[in-house]
Amino acid sequence: MRVAAPPTILVFDSGLGGLTVLREIVGVRPDAHYVYVADDAFFPYGHHGEDEIVARVVPLVGELIEAHAPDLVVIACNTASTIVMSHLRDAYRLPFVGTVPAIKPACASSKTRRVSVLGTRGTVKREYTRKLISDFAQGCEVTLVGSGELASLAEAALSGQSVRDADIAAELAPCFVGNGADDPARTDTVVLACTHYPLLLDRLTGLAPWPVDWIDPAPAIARRVADLLGPPGIESDTAGAEMIFTSKRPHTLSAALTPFFGGRVPA
Ligand code: DGL
Repeated sequence: MRVAAPPTILVFDSGLGGLTVLREIVGVRPDAHYVYVADDAFFPYGHHGEDEIVARVVPLVGELIEAHAPDLVVIACNTASTIVMSHLRDAYRLPFVGTVPAIKPACASSKTRRVSVLGTRGTVKREYTRKLISDFAQGCEVTLVGSGELASLAEAALSGQSVRDADIAAELAPCFVGNGADDPARTDTVVLACTHYPLLLDRLTGLAPWPVDWIDPAPAIARRVADLLGPPGIESDTAGAEMIFTSKRPHTLSAALTPFFGGRVPA
């Protein structure tokens, strides 16, 4: 598919986590027009059932397509992507790119053959995630860790609130299987299976009981978008980026958000 530049790319998440995906997409298509939608009125998705998420996201994305006429939609949320993609593709004639746990590359690169998948409680329960493990574990031991609070802690941190190390460490602890850094069978790779978690990457790295590789699929998602839309054209978007919260709250995060939009100030 080739779209006349600059295309409109709509990036959707339950909250601010999808900004970690947006940042990578902006890197490969700096010319595009961006609409970022945070469904904060329904946050956190990890606490909702599968049927509720389908019933919420499919019509909402339809309304957003109607309002913004995007050329491509990125569902920058594992909790939603692991359940809604086929429904969206059935309902709307538009390219969709989802975000699902990066189990295949994590298991391919683990040296100790022990990998943890850190996601929301919803994501780790999904049949889709279990199937990724049965198809792509490649003999690795995979530990699924469902976090109840980490997405909310990431939102709080990005919004400038102080978040205690102990609260982050408690969510992280079950990812680390083994008897310390010298155990040859310890976890050496952690899949960040929620787009909120890379927002806390420095904190996660600092609090980890031993060093691991953190697998963030955002660069791969950006490459997929670039493949579908083609390379940037000579024209660039001049309309400015849009940031929409479904709660309709006015946002006071502009300075913190600007880097994710490649320096544009989202309106
Ligand atoms: N950012 C979302 C994900 O990738 C989840 C956060 C939530 O629970 O809403 O799974």
